[in-house]
Amino acid sequence: MVVCHCEVVNDRAIRATIAAGACDLDGVAQSCGAGARCGGCIPSIEELLADAALALQAPASLVARQAARRVDHDIDHRAGFESRA
Ligand code: FES
Repeated sequence: MVVCHCEVVNDRAIRATIAAGACDLDGVAQSCGAGARCGGCIPSIEELLADAALALQAPASLVARQAARRVDHDIDHRAGFESRA
């Protein structure tokens, strides 16, 4: 789907630009031209940037949840030992 009609840049090209390191509107505009003219596509580019940021956070939150589960397990395990003693 074309996101930037001024520069004829589609969402896949913008996602690729973000994946290659463009982390803000200026970076996207410099890399592929999207958002550099009228600015009408900027809300869509911001959504793509936000999606990419969330995708980067997902693994970290998964690691945090796994660590929390381990702590819960350790606490449950210790509570079991203490109740038997
Ligand atoms: S639609 Fe992207 S700069 Fe105009």
